[in-house]
Amino acid sequence: MNGLRIVAGNANPDLARKVAELVVEKFNTRYVEFIDEVLRERRGAPLEGVRDPLKFEDVWCEAKVKYFPDNEVYAHVERTVRGQCVFVIQPTCPPRQGTPPGEPGPKTVNDHLMELLLLIDALKRASAEKICAVVPYFGYARQDRKTEGRVPISARLVANLIERAGATRVLAVELHASQIQGFFDIPLDHLRTDHLFARHIRAHHPDWLEDLVVVSPDLGGLFRARRVAERLQSPGFATLAKRRFDGGKLEVLLVIGDVKGKRVLLVDDILSTGGTLLRAVDRLIEQGAKEVYAACTHGIFAGDALERIEASPLSRIIVTDTIPQTAAEGHPLVEVVSVADDLAEAIIRIYLGLSISELLVRGR
Ligand code: R5P
Repeated sequence: MNGLRIVAGNANPDLARKVAELVVEKFNTRYVEFIDEVLRERRGAPLEGVRDPLKFEDVWCEAKVKYFPDNEVYAHVERTVRGQCVFVIQPTCPPRQGTPPGEPGPKTVNDHLMELLLLIDALKRASAEKICAVVPYFGYARQDRKTEGRVPISARLVANLIERAGATRVLAVELHASQIQGFFDIPLDHLRTDHLFARHIRAHHPDWLEDLVVVSPDLGGLFRARRVAERLQSPGFATLAKRRFDGGKLEVLLVIGDVKGKRVLLVDDILSTGGTLLRAVDRLIEQGAKEVYAACTHGIFAGDALERIEASPLSRIIVTDTIPQTAAEGHPLVEVVSVADDLAEAIIRIYLGLSISELLVRGR
């Protein structure tokens, strides 16, 4: 019996549960009825026991992930996973409210990473047949190359750790750089979020589409922003670029493209301190933009980022729930779109051995 199981650590349990519920609902309403047809499309070894509707209580596999008094992590998967196809949903983001000093519990990105590694190890040693690390936010992604001598390539090290722990596959969302896929020697499916932002804007802010210019805050994010512009069929496109003068002492943020009198949508992958975004907002307003909005996939909101955004001329920011948005949810400036549906669809397709290129390439 190749069952589908979903396990989660402490990083984003609400998202994990929502995904598990959607997996059950979608499988039972869209897949099981056509299972013979579906399995004809499939490549690879035959699957056993996938002809019956799924039950949430079978799919959801409770795991206890706790901390010892010295803050070592303990993980225990509470049910058998022998021969099963298991998905571990755990973004490696900082905890939303870090555990107070002196109390055991997750305090940093590293704790969530360690939880992921230990869960994978536990599943491997419990004879799970396949282990897919579902990492909606991949921490350390920005350290993806040597920018100077004697520094690590941390994103590569994290990829090695996940793989060595025993993951047989990875499902990630809007990686900082697509090349990170190549840091893994196991299959990685990379979901994008441009279609989610475009759908949300069309549904809730059709007024933004008049005179819209989509802008990347740096040259590294150019293709990401362009994908959103294409989805919105926005002819307006611009980018910011850093230019250094005087031997690197003076830094100027150049705006390449016309934003004067326009509404601007800044598109980025990560919002951490908000520094990148807010510098871009100031520069765009200086250049005559009439309103600035932002769409950032991974809303970390580190430190006082939310307060700094409130004090800025940014009119609205859209983020996703790859990271829990407990602080930002309900804030008048922040709107949250969910990646749960796409993750659920991708999980079913991975489980059944179906193509997910429709999701990867076009979104729905
Ligand atoms: C940088 O290349 C990233 O795409 C983000 O723009 C950046 O990491 C955001 O960080 P912060 O909000 O701290 O400026």
